[in-house]
Amino acid sequence: MRVYISDLKDHVGKTVELKGWVYNHRSSGKIKFLLLRDGTGIAQCVYFRGECSEESFEVFEKLSQETSVKVTGVVREEKRSPGGFEISARELEIIGGSVDYPISPKDHGPDFLMNNRHLWIRSKKQHALLRVRAEIVAAIRDFFDGRGFTLTDAPIFTPSACEGTSTLFETKYFDEKAYLSQSGQLYMEATAAAFGKVYCFGPTFRAEKSKTRRHLIEFWMVEPEVAFNDLYDNMELAEQFVEYVIQRTLKNKAEELKTLERDTTQLQKVIAPFPRLHYKEAAQMILKENPAFQVGGDFGAPDEAIISAKFEKPVFVHHFPSAIKAFYFKEDPTEPEYSMSCDLLAPEGYGEVIGGGEREISHDTLVRKIGEHNLNVKDFEWYLDVRKYGTFPHAGFGLGLERTVAWISGIQHVRETIPFPRLYGRNYP
Ligand code: 4AD
Ligand code: MG
Repeated sequence: MRVYISDLKDHVGKTVELKGWVYNHRSSGKIKFLLLRDGTGIAQCVYFRGECSEESFEVFEKLSQETSVKVTGVVREEKRSPGGFEISARELEIIGGSVDYPISPKDHGPDFLMNNRHLWIRSKKQHALLRVRAEIVAAIRDFFDGRGFTLTDAPIFTPSACEGTSTLFETKYFDEKAYLSQSGQLYMEATAAAFGKVYCFGPTFRAEKSKTRRHLIEFWMVEPEVAFNDLYDNMELAEQFVEYVIQRTLKNKAEELKTLERDTTQLQKVIAPFPRLHYKEAAQMILKENPAFQVGGDFGAPDEAIISAKFEKPVFVHHFPSAIKAFYFKEDPTEPEYSMSCDLLAPEGYGEVIGGGEREISHDTLVRKIGEHNLNVKDFEWYLDVRKYGTFPHAGFGLGLERTVAWISGIQHVRETIPFPRLYGRNYP
């Protein structure tokens, strides 16, 4: 019977068939060891002369790293073996050869590894990282699905800019121009009026001509939007959400986080509520350590690090100056130069993982702000309709998946947190 390595515990004493790839192999006289990898785990298969077929002993000599094989043998409990089980192997069959596999245990540079990303994902650490990512994705969906949100995914081709025109990817849409979506938010504001609590979760695109460890050209964002929520409800939702995603991943992916050598002490402390700072307070904090900081301006990565270093938990900064924020934010009626926006800064220097806030709901104010941002009102007519027919307070946010994976996994660069990263200067493989 063919089984997966992760299920060996259910087959102790039985003869099974495993299919996978050679992770490692070595011989010493009458005994040969094969570490087999099948995606669900790694199993040690022991070929002992006399116990296995003579033929399999010969086939063994033809193995190399990443040869795909079929192993037949008896499952035994073995504490010292990876996974706690071992295969007393009987047969060995080669399915596909592997000549000069380019990735070896020696140190390769990042460029080499990125060029071989399609193979690199087989490596232990990359494998663990992408399993953590998959768990985070599942946690994100479960959080919102379990709280009565309706998934209403936004289009990728869009006629207009959500996050400013400087990072738009332009493409042809038959005879017209279109842009790849920077954010599904504007569409979520419309679906919130239809369903109350909604979210979208998919790829978004930013033509950012910068090489940093936090920026991808194509990244995944989850964006909830809730009718009748204000800025403070929004922060409460965000902190409960982040707590859930982190605590569940710590629980369900402990093994992978161990493989990644992630010290999870800080992550265990990520329990709501999170501290909150008005932009003005945050700016003063930054000024003390970075006198060059321009109050009224956006934070750079070092500025974010100054703030997050003061807290053990993630920290919200809210009320960013309206002048540096997107057109759709509501201005605080008591201090209109500040917007009802909030960013969540992750600890340990991982920076901004969430951006969001309360939306402008006045039709006429929005028309003014669209003009001030040099956007074309015509492209936003449908969006303005949401204000014409029963306008309503609402708020939402976007969490960047890859930055969250980097933070939870303790990985320095977002390029390892997505199976096939798109970076400035890299669209291969
Ligand atoms: O702060 P941003 O630009 O907010 C929005 O797009 C809002 N429309 C979301 C909303 O309110 N519905 O992006 C949100 C998050 C950031 O905090 C960051 O985690 C991630 O998306 N992000 C990126 N991640 C990787 N590479 C990039 N180039 C990113 N740009 C933003
Ligand atoms: Mg932002």
